[in-house]
Amino acid sequence: MKKKLLAMALVAAMTVSMAACGGSSSAPAADNSGSEAATEEAATEEAATEEAAAPAEGAMKIGISMPTQSLERWNRDGQYLDEQFKAAGYETILTYSDNQSDRQVNDIQNMIAEGVNLLIVAAIDGEALNTAMNEAAEQNIPVISYDRLILNDAVSYYVSFDNYTVGKLQGEFVRDTLDLDNAGDKVYNIEFTAGDPADNNAGYFFNGAFDTLSPYIESGVLNVVSGQTDFDSVATDQWSTDTALERAQNILGSYYADGTQLDVWLCSNDSTALGVAQAITSDYAGSNSVIITGQDGDEANLKNIVDGIQTMTVYKNVANEAIVTMGLAEAMLKGETIDASLCDTFGIECAYDTESYQTSEGNKCPSFLLVPSVITKDNLQELVDTGLYTMGEDGYLAATK
Ligand code: GAL
Repeated sequence: MKKKLLAMALVAAMTVSMAACGGSSSAPAADNSGSEAATEEAATEEAATEEAAAPAEGAMKIGISMPTQSLERWNRDGQYLDEQFKAAGYETILTYSDNQSDRQVNDIQNMIAEGVNLLIVAAIDGEALNTAMNEAAEQNIPVISYDRLILNDAVSYYVSFDNYTVGKLQGEFVRDTLDLDNAGDKVYNIEFTAGDPADNNAGYFFNGAFDTLSPYIESGVLNVVSGQTDFDSVATDQWSTDTALERAQNILGSYYADGTQLDVWLCSNDSTALGVAQAITSDYAGSNSVIITGQDGDEANLKNIVDGIQTMTVYKNVANEAIVTMGLAEAMLKGETIDASLCDTFGIECAYDTESYQTSEGNKCPSFLLVPSVITKDNLQELVDTGLYTMGEDGYLAATK
């Protein structure tokens, strides 16, 4: 119960601190009717929050290493994590490494030199972090591998979403939307765009989708016109929108310029889906609407979903991912028992998985996996209901941070 109260306090603090820190938030805004009292109250609230967040002398220090700010979600991950640890009285060091692996190594080494008590790392390229991870292990600094598993035994725990299921949801969406099980002699043409080969998640996303759809490729119901079905051929360095755009234009120019119909483009996430959608808009001559999948609920992609350009995205509530990470970090630092019951304390659906992931051969990594969900134009309200998005008069969604 204690932890549940903590979580509620954390979410409230995050909400208040978001409002107090000038970020928009789902918390009711201070009365803007110009009332002095309301403005004063908001200022008092802000001061209280900042004071509460100021780390006490000798407070424990948390290093939060995020990969980049150029991919939308990581800005939220970093802010949610930073704000909730500060609200709980920890000192934090938050860095974004601009998708440069050597910079992330340096950022983490600096955190170690600053004497952090725990590291939370979302790796750009897990393999490139071995030096920094080994240094953390030598200094007995525990590491939570955040969202993307780092294959180094310095990692104590992994917090993410069920990444294979993310891809499976995309594949099932295509299967069900086209009713492939009842396709008869129809043939649908499909292409694939996967993520960054350096990202341990990318293979899980692709395999989840491809394993779901490969029976239909084998039976001929689905036809990959470009013939590009292996991960390396469909991968996208750094999840780059421009790289995805360029490859899609090449494929459309090479295989679809003769009027061949394209029915589906399965993209592993929203940044690549944005590039593919741009390519289809500019370079696809067909008049049919192409099913395009994505992941993350990025604002530009949600707009494309409202406009019928993208068909779905797999949503992952990264505020919840941060709350589970916070709870795990607290338990680690307090030497508490860590098991499946941790998820129950926050009322967040997550699985404690000790089998699916390993940091080295035979070294299983205990993981907390949250549950992704499918968002289409028909259930955008579910995002608004999280309190993390608002819907404008124009029907488009904006994230509250
Ligand atoms: C993955 C992450 C996804 C995806 C991609 C780009 O590792 O789990 O949310 O968007 O990186 O950041």
